[in-house]
Amino acid sequence: ATPLIIDTDPGVDDAFAIALAARSPEVELKGLTTVFGNVGLDLTTANALRLLAHLGRTDVPVVKGSEGPGGAADVHGADGLGGQALTLPENPVPISGEDVVRFFADTITPDTVVAAIGPLTNIAAALEAGVEFPRLIVMGGGLGLGNMTARAEFNFWADAKAARTVIRKGNPVVVPLNLTQRCIADTEFLANVDPVLSNLTGTYRAYLAAHKDQNHSDREEGILIHDAVAVAEAIVPGTLKLETHGLDIDDEGALVEGKHQVEVAVETDWPALRSFMEQRLSV
Ligand code: BDR
Ligand code: CA
Repeated sequence: ATPLIIDTDPGVDDAFAIALAARSPEVELKGLTTVFGNVGLDLTTANALRLLAHLGRTDVPVVKGSEGPGGAADVHGADGLGGQALTLPENPVPISGEDVVRFFADTITPDTVVAAIGPLTNIAAALEAGVEFPRLIVMGGGLGLGNMTARAEFNFWADAKAARTVIRKGNPVVVPLNLTQRCIADTEFLANVDPVLSNLTGTYRAYLAAHKDQNHSDREEGILIHDAVAVAEAIVPGTLKLETHGLDIDDEGALVEGKHQVEVAVETDWPALRSFMEQRLSV
């Protein structure tokens, strides 16, 4: 199995991504590193622990990473999990005391994949410290498209400087909004997967319904599981069609054309990926 580390800010779609990895034999989950984002660092870390307890994976270490100004409570709920975090079991295992950059340096082997599905603060700090990521898959950015501002996507916007470091030095595979916004976990999907996961999605569904007229027009009812789409590429390489693009990050945190060659996920067979996820996430 491929060693996988997920850098995450759970987050409802992060929860789906973590569950997908935890239930896929193709990857061996080596740890969750946490970052602020959808909510503050204490909550994202607590959520990571509880999600692992629910998934029966208390063997996976949780390493607390970087704090920053968090905020997508309108989408993910004040606790980051649609107000349902405390319905998940407590994890008896404490947070690993290791420093996050140290953890990456100690844990990454030549075949390790790191999937970064929150703001890129931890990853940029590791790159600055000289850590090498053999394969780094990043959910973030949108080409000509945003969900925070008209042009900026949340993960890149939340720490634009870190996003720039990753685009320039991290040799990432970028999984942008342009693709993830087409992957809708519809009502039927949510009815077929682990009810504990579906139970987290109430606030998110209400948010999307309320913003139908803005960036979420003519969309079927359901949620966007951005992060799970990115993690699927770590589980089964080739799930997403990649193209090389010259990109950069501007001061606003928007992904723009530039001179740094990175791989971008441009397409997927969503019906096939949808059934794959449904199968893995059902109980
Ligand atoms: C990204 O932002 C977060 O709110 C989600 O968890 C996802 O990582 C989508 O823009
Ligand atoms: Ca996330």
